[in-house]
Amino acid sequence: MINALLKAHAQKIEDNFNFLLPENDEKYKKVTEAMRYSFLNGGKRIRPALMLEFFSLCGGEGDGALNFATALEMIHCYSLIHDDLPCMDNDDMRRGKPSCHKAFGEDTALLAGDALLTYAFEVASKTKGATKDNVIRAIGVLAKNAGYAGMIGGQVIDLAIENTPCDIETIKEMYLLKTGELLCAAAEIGCILAGADGEKISAARRYAQNVGLAFQIIDDILDNIGDEKLLGKPVGSDQKNNKTTFVSKYGIEECRNIAARLTETAKEALNAFEGDKTNIVALTNYLLERNY
Ligand code: IPE
Ligand code: IPE
Ligand code: MG
Ligand code: MG
Ligand code: MG
Repeated sequence: MINALLKAHAQKIEDNFNFLLPENDEKYKKVTEAMRYSFLNGGKRIRPALMLEFFSLCGGEGDGALNFATALEMIHCYSLIHDDLPCMDNDDMRRGKPSCHKAFGEDTALLAGDALLTYAFEVASKTKGATKDNVIRAIGVLAKNAGYAGMIGGQVIDLAIENTPCDIETIKEMYLLKTGELLCAAAEIGCILAGADGEKISAARRYAQNVGLAFQIIDDILDNIGDEKLLGKPVGSDQKNNKTTFVSKYGIEECRNIAARLTETAKEALNAFEGDKTNIVALTNYLLERNY
């Protein structure tokens, strides 16, 4: 069930992206080719899936949140392009293919990331299934969660603590920011676009913070013991860059327990919602059990 669900969401997002940035865009090909390469290379599309599921859980109708969900995935893809650059994690593979800078050069990769980030806001502003006020509010959340006090803030901490021993609270803060904030954007914005009340939006954020922490802990576990072929990105990247992680602090087994507890707490936050939660619960369980 979960595979079919993820596949259906991924298909919608990819079709919409193809429509928004078609292949035959000759004039700007140098950058659009790199944008398309880094978007259409088989990501799991977790963030848009969560946004679309929270949107319908809160009563949103049809494909009303599709443009916004595509915009969020564009921001995620930009973050991956920049994350792989030599000045960041210096990783050569992403989603089973050479990373953007390996395929197109650092200059084009940098610009393709910038272009995905900026195009995301243009696309988000064209969201159809919500009131203007809610679209504006959601754009504010997207910008904040992706920005200096959100995802980028987490990346700043990540770089600052390379080669430096640090306490678990700092690592937790880094995870909540670098990974948690885009997942929070997915859940919060799904609710906002559907016109949900403040209580539900806060519960969605609580849910996604717990899922986000667990998600990054699983990412770290996979960075240690994952199957490189399946993962599509290099195993051992964290060790290569001397990153302190939950895994380097607690070991694999304890990390699995921590991630399982966080997942339970995340599911408790869903009590604030009345509708059918089958899909979101299935997605949440999948995120814990995933092996890529
Ligand atoms: C990878 O995210 C980066 C992290 C925040 C850990 P995903 O595991 O969602 O990557 P894709 O989009 O499926 O490739
Ligand atoms: C998450 O951390 C990075 C982003 C916010 C883009 P990682 O550096 O661990 O992500 P991967 O393992 O390269 O996908
Ligand atoms: Mg990184
Ligand atoms: Mg990385
Ligand atoms: Mg990682």
